[in-house]
Amino acid sequence: MNGFLGTRANFIVDLTITISAILPLLLLLTFYLASIGKYKLHKNLQLLLIFITLSLVVALELGIRAHGSNTNSFELKAILIVHLFFAITSFVGWIYLAIKSLMTKDMKFDFDHKRWGKLVYIGLCFSIVTGWILYFFAFVF
Ligand code: HEM
Repeated sequence: MNGFLGTRANFIVDLTITISAILPLLLLLTFYLASIGKYKLHKNLQLLLIFITLSLVVALELGIRAHGSNTNSFELKAILIVHLFFAITSFVGWIYLAIKSLMTKDMKFDFDHKRWGKLVYIGLCFSIVTGWILYFFAFVF
């Protein structure tokens, strides 16, 4: 099925890349909710975003495999490695932080939850930006 962004990418890849653009805003919303004391909502939205992101990553992976992409050039391989580095470390960190937080009794963290959360956020943003660069190289140029 053809994509809707007018590039060579298919529908799943276009959908994933579009939704990934609003993820940082939704994450900021969860941070805001925590900052005004709505911890349960903060937690539930975090878990929902993890679930959505996991589904998107699987869909994107299948989409790229089904469609194929031009990842042969040296530049593209280099960007792919940088992208994978940020994507894997931040996603694993995100899930780890969520599990560790869920296992903490009464949310009385013995680690700097806020600081780790912001670090995960920065990593996810880098993954998304490098993902977009990859998209341009693979499906636009
Ligand atoms: C899923 C389980 C989670 C629970 C139960 C939880 C709970 C909380 C609680 C109680 C606070 C306020 C206390 C504090 O600042 O130390 C908080 C704040 C915060 N959380 Fe979480 N959290 C969860 C997941 C996450 C994740 C996965 C992230 C990052 C991706 C995150 C990022 C933040 C940030 C940045 C703040 C500070 C917000 C602010 O005051 O500006 N949290 N969380």
